[in-house]
Amino acid sequence: MKLVVAIIRPHKLQEVKDALAELGLTGLTITEVRGHGRQRGQVEKYRGLEYTIDLLPKVKVEVVCGDHRKDEVIETIMRAARTGEIGDGKIFVLPIEESIRVRTGDRDEDSL
Ligand SMILES: Nc1ncnc2c1ncn2[C@@H]1O[C@H](COP(=O)(O)OP(=O)(O)OP(=O)(O)O)[C@@H](O)[C@H]1O
Ligand SMILES: [Mg+2]
Repeated sequence: MKLVVAIIRPHKLQEVKDALAELGLTGLTITEVRGHGRQRGQVEKYRGLEYTIDLLPKVKVEVVCGDHRKDEVIETIMRAARTGEIGDGKIFVLPIEESIRVRTGDRDEDSL
């Protein structure tokens, strides 16, 4: 199993959620986060003064899936989250050792 962690633009969350649901993936976790990539945030003007907003609001989407679904999850998130502008986000993939559904005791892919 893999944990796919995507940091995306907040206004793309609905599209990403809908696209993942279409794949038949049921579970996911969302967190509101702040961060920056290689531009280190962006410089914005406010009342004529320039402020460096160095931690921009993003949404972190976490999905655990079987190894065989990892690539379609990545492609789906990319398609739904992309605008083509800087700051579209990033996807990280981590291995998951075990997964358990608390109610039933189902394990690993049966628990997803
Ligand atoms: N190396 C990293 N480690 C952890 N989080 C990161 C990293 N790079 C980006 N992020 C997270 O992803 C968010 C979006 O990053 P962003 O899309 O700006 O990446 P980028 O590398 O600067 O690409 P781009 O040039 O398209 O903007 C950041 O706000 C941050 O939360
Ligand atoms: Mg960036």
